[in-house]
Amino acid sequence: MKDGKLKTVYVCSNCGETSPRWMGRCPSCGEWNTMVEDVVVPEPKSAARKAAGARPAGVTSLVADRLSSISTTEEKSRIVTGISELDRVLGGGVVLGSVVLLGGEPGAGKSTLLLQLCGAISRQHEVLYITGEESTRQIKLRANRLKVAQENISLAAETEIDEICGLIEQAKPELVVIDSIQTMHSSDVSSSAGSVSQVKECTARLLAVAKAHEIPTFIVGHVNKDGAIAGPKVMEHIVDTVLYFEGDKTLPYRVLRAAKNRYGSTNEIGMFDMTGSGLAEIENPSQLLLEGRPLGTSGNCVACTMEGTRPILSEVQALVTKSSFNVPRRTASGFDFNRANLLVAVLEKRAGYFFGSLDVYLNIVGGLQLDETACDLSVCLAMVSSLLDQPIGDKTVAIGEVGLGGEVRSVTFLETRLREAQRIGFNKAIVPKHNLKQLNVKEFYGLELVGVSYLREAINAIK
Ligand SMILES: Nc1ncnc2c1ncn2[C@@H]1O[C@H](COP(=O)(O)OP(=O)(O)OP(=O)(O)O)[C@@H](O)[C@H]1O
Ligand SMILES: [Mg+2]
Ligand SMILES: [Zn+2]
Repeated sequence: MKDGKLKTVYVCSNCGETSPRWMGRCPSCGEWNTMVEDVVVPEPKSAARKAAGARPAGVTSLVADRLSSISTTEEKSRIVTGISELDRVLGGGVVLGSVVLLGGEPGAGKSTLLLQLCGAISRQHEVLYITGEESTRQIKLRANRLKVAQENISLAAETEIDEICGLIEQAKPELVVIDSIQTMHSSDVSSSAGSVSQVKECTARLLAVAKAHEIPTFIVGHVNKDGAIAGPKVMEHIVDTVLYFEGDKTLPYRVLRAAKNRYGSTNEIGMFDMTGSGLAEIENPSQLLLEGRPLGTSGNCVACTMEGTRPILSEVQALVTKSSFNVPRRTASGFDFNRANLLVAVLEKRAGYFFGSLDVYLNIVGGLQLDETACDLSVCLAMVSSLLDQPIGDKTVAIGEVGLGGEVRSVTFLETRLREAQRIGFNKAIVPKHNLKQLNVKEFYGLELVGVSYLREAINAIK
């Protein structure tokens, strides 16, 4: 390697494609402006191998194990952190030997979350926290503020990856945190820290150590301006789990979401509140989202969406007004725009409510994105309520998918959704009639269940 001359190449930061010259558009993935300059040592052509000719048939030192002979014990394969929002997103705790990439905007709270994770498990487990961004003193100050137990947490400020891997192998901790991958570098790669080849190399080395010693490793990754983890896409392919920590300055909470998980569902979300003493779990998101909503106002309807296995009640707001434009304005925030237009068309054609020249503004309060078709019915009812200027009862929830024929179709997890509505104190639920057959209506004491087959019936139920 030493005699290899340095070579400048351009690497796509999205897919890792290389090219000897700069290009505006990556030929491999088609993204614009993703080619960045990088320096590499060209791999020596393995002349020896070429000279040796073809591989001899049937010669190997590799042995395959039978699946049945590989031992695992389920209860020992995960560490339950006790931070239930995090455990749920991970699929029931941290899997031994797994490598988790945590991405998020600057200041989202990545370091805070991981330090709290260290604190939570450090009573039973040895933890090693490697920081390349902050000094150990700064981490100490944060740990004091978060009031985490400090006994079993070891800290090191280092950015050279071989030093770090050596320390992990020597100290054999039960959990490792690397904050962040963009500050790490390997002296075998000539480009600067944070470049595509450095990030790739450092991730691969950490992965090898994590797998060999079954040490779960959390790696912090910064995100680029599009919100994706900065660095090659290959990094996301080689790790086991990719989590995003999303925090908007305008939202009262932060959401932890899995973009990929080899050991659990990616539907689950974890919700946290950033407080002076760290991240607090939000155990009751429905309550938070419904807090302070206007009562007795037209255009509001409550929907119930499933985020993974958890039902969350959320308020849908619609405002239908006379338009001052030639073409009426339609906007939807937190709900799919095309779906909203489709529902307007269904209301016009199948239920006889006309929005023709009226502006329709749709908003989901609290910043949640309602992607589920089970929220269709409450969106329709909110729009009709605004159109007629007729409020819907404050304690009414509407659940159901709306079809093009104006029919209200069954949804999944109706029972779970209704239990949530009952728990929060709702007294009326408008639900698909088909679904009712599967329910034991007597179980929903205090919650009147109104089964509807068509949109018209649902609208009559709120009048
Ligand atoms: N004293 C404090 N009181 C309340 N909140 C605080 C306090 N100090 C920091 N925070 C919160 O913590 C957030 C920063 O958290 P953290 O450093 O964990 O983020 P990060 O994702 O690691 O950021 P970076 O990408 O810069 O490393 C701030 O945005 C702020 O909301
Ligand atoms: Mg940080
Ligand atoms: Zn590309």
